[in-house]
Amino acid sequence: MSNTVDQAAQAAQRRPHVRFSTDVPRQSANDQRQRTADLGTAGLLAARQVVKSYYKERLAIPVLRGVDFAVRDGEFVAIVGQSGSGKSTLLHLLATLDAPDSGEIHFGGRRIDNLPSTSRDLLRNRCLGMIFQFYHLLPELTCLENVLTPCMIAEGVWNYWRRRRTFRERAEHLLEMVGLSHRLKHKPRELSGGEMQRAAIARALVADPEILLADEPTGNLDQKTGQGIMDILTQLNSEGLTVVMVTHDVTVAARADRIVRLVEGRVEPEI
Ligand SMILES: Nc1ncnc2c1ncn2[C@@H]1O[C@H](COP(=O)(O)OP(=O)(O)O)[C@@H](O)[C@H]1O
Ligand SMILES: [Mg+2]
Repeated sequence: MSNTVDQAAQAAQRRPHVRFSTDVPRQSANDQRQRTADLGTAGLLAARQVVKSYYKERLAIPVLRGVDFAVRDGEFVAIVGQSGSGKSTLLHLLATLDAPDSGEIHFGGRRIDNLPSTSRDLLRNRCLGMIFQFYHLLPELTCLENVLTPCMIAEGVWNYWRRRRTFRERAEHLLEMVGLSHRLKHKPRELSGGEMQRAAIARALVADPEILLADEPTGNLDQKTGQGIMDILTQLNSEGLTVVMVTHDVTVAARADRIVRLVEGRVEPEI
């Protein structure tokens, strides 16, 4: 891991882990490191005066016009807003999947949007768990293999092969936690929407991230299935995981500790 990423990862103040700590093997000894930093009011993950436009031919489509947002360690925050208000754009910027036109993204008190792409990839892989609205599971892989992909990417072939049993044990445990023990060898096309979303949650957790970023995690699900997903996210948060969830559904957002609203490219005062 590069120094910058290593420092940023260490800088993320990790609360004493209760989640899975007793019964799940950790990804690596590094994960056990005490991470210390003074977060102050900066938050664990923060956007500072973030501006983002898309361009259609030469026409700018302004989406974010100066967003200030921060999630503190252990919080569960919902970002709400109408369709097209820029929720996914903001989440992708927080995850450093895209870069702001201006403004900054900070993680653990350090700026991360200007890191080299390899460092951002590492940071994302190790510290940020992402749940995409449309799951983004790889169709040719089984449920278990999909959950294992972040470990394969993070560790490289040799390390992954050496420690495959540990990874597999953790992946199986996470799939059990989300109620998918009976679907380990199923491919995504053999899963329901709710099952795919649960597999995506397990995949987002396999690298033991600091923060879970969830884009409309109930968006494609019926109400009951969606409630099941929200129960899982609420449980994870109660066990110490920081969660940032984007949703257009105010009922779903009500399950969070705090709601912020995106309106006309800015964050409105908190509800
Ligand atoms: N890659 C893109 N190119 C051009 N416009 C985009 C792109 N992605 C999103 N947009 C536009 O930016 C606005 C915000 O999109 P998005 O962040 O997906 O909103 P939300 O998640 O709140 O529905 C929308 O008007 C959308 O059409
Ligand atoms: Mg969206």
